[in-house]
Parts: sequence; structure tokens; C-alpha cells
Amino acid sequence: MTQIALIVGSLSKQSINRAVAEHIAAQAPAGVAVEEVQIGDLPLYTQDLDAESVPAYDRVRAQLKAADAVLIVSPEHNRAMPAAVKNIIDIASRPFGQSVWAGKKAAVVTASPGGYGGINSGLQIRQSLQPLGADVLIAPEVFLSRANAALENGKVADERTAQFLNQFAATFYAWAAQ
Ligand SMILES: Cc1cc2nc3c(=O)[nH]c(=O)nc-3n(C[C@H](O)[C@H](O)[C@H](O)COP(=O)(O)O)c2cc1C
Repeated sequence: MTQIALIVGSLSKQSINRAVAEHIAAQAPAGVAVEEVQIGDLPLYTQDLDAESVPAYDRVRAQLKAADAVLIVSPEHNRAMPAAVKNIIDIASRPFGQSVWAGKKAAVVTASPGGYGGINSGLQIRQSLQPLGADVLIAPEVFLSRANAALENGKVADERTAQFLNQFAATFYAWAAQ
């Protein structure tokens, strides 16, 4: 069984990115399990806690460690990745020498109601993961613009968008399973 750890970078209940993430998760083929890593309850990272057992940190580090690949689906906040995404990247990168990111397959998707699809956030997430040694999926890139227009009742309804996401999902799951 191929294990995918899913990080949704939005904490919003009405999240566009959660709808996109759920669509991609629903494309998982037989033999691939997608499990969300909850990030909303994580205390802000400080290295002062490295010597202690913080249950919420232990939980997400173990989940990410066990995963064959990580999928991050995130909005852009003020031309950058959301603080909650940076927090989980930092938490999982420490204690020093115990980073879960080294060699970890990771893919990044962003979605925004705006015209640029959250590209700054997506590129920044990739930039942060690469020096940690993560094996970041280069292509296909997904920076989904006008994403709200593709949704109906909290689901991806636009056929063209669905096809585009399905192509990404097929590539991602095949790569994760290798
Ligand atoms: C604090 C804040 C900053 C934002 N900055 C950006 C931005 O830089 N670029 C962008 O495309 N959208 C920006 N937005 C709009 C978000 O794309 C929009 O709120 C979107 O719904 C967020 O995704 P979500 O629904 O998955 O939470 C911002 C939203 C918030 C709340």
C-alpha cells in the first residue's frame, strides 16, 4: 500500500484548497491510501521544544515519516505560503538530524480565486522543501487560478479543471508508488 500524507494549507472551513485536495484524493487508485495530516492545532515551532515530546509534533512527524509521498495543497497568503504550512515544514525538519523531509517525495498544488493561482506560495513551498532534501515533483505544475469559479457546493464541478487535476493526480500517484 502506498501511503500519501495530505497537507491542506488552509484552515478555513470554506476552503477552496480543501475542495481541490479532496478532488485529488478521490482520484487515488487502488493500492494508494491518502491520509490528512492535521496542521491547525500545531503550536508555532520553536527549537526550544526539540528536547521535549510535544504530542502534536510527534503525531505529524510520525505521519510524515511513514508516508511514501506528501501532497501539499495550499493557498497563498500575502504573496507567500501560509504560516501554517511554514510551521509544519519547520516542525518536520527538526530536531536537527531527524528531518522527515530528506529524500521524501513531495508535490505542491496551489489554488486561488485570483489570476495567478497562488504561484508565489507554490514556488516558495518548493523552495523551502528542496534544501531540506525533499524529492519535489517538478511537473506537472498546478497553480490553479480562478479556482472558486470551478467549484459548486464545495466540489470541483468544472469539467476542464477536473481533467487538469486528474492528469496531475495520475502522474503524482504513479510517481509516489515507484
Ligand atoms: C491573509 C490573506 C492573504 C491573501 N493573500 C493572497 C495572495 O497573496 N494571493 C492570492 O492569490 N490570494 C490571496 N488571498 C486570497 C485567497 O486566495 C483566498 O482567501 C482563498 O480563498 C484562500 O484559499 P482557501 O479558500 O483554500 O483558504 C489572501 C487571503 C487572505 C486571508
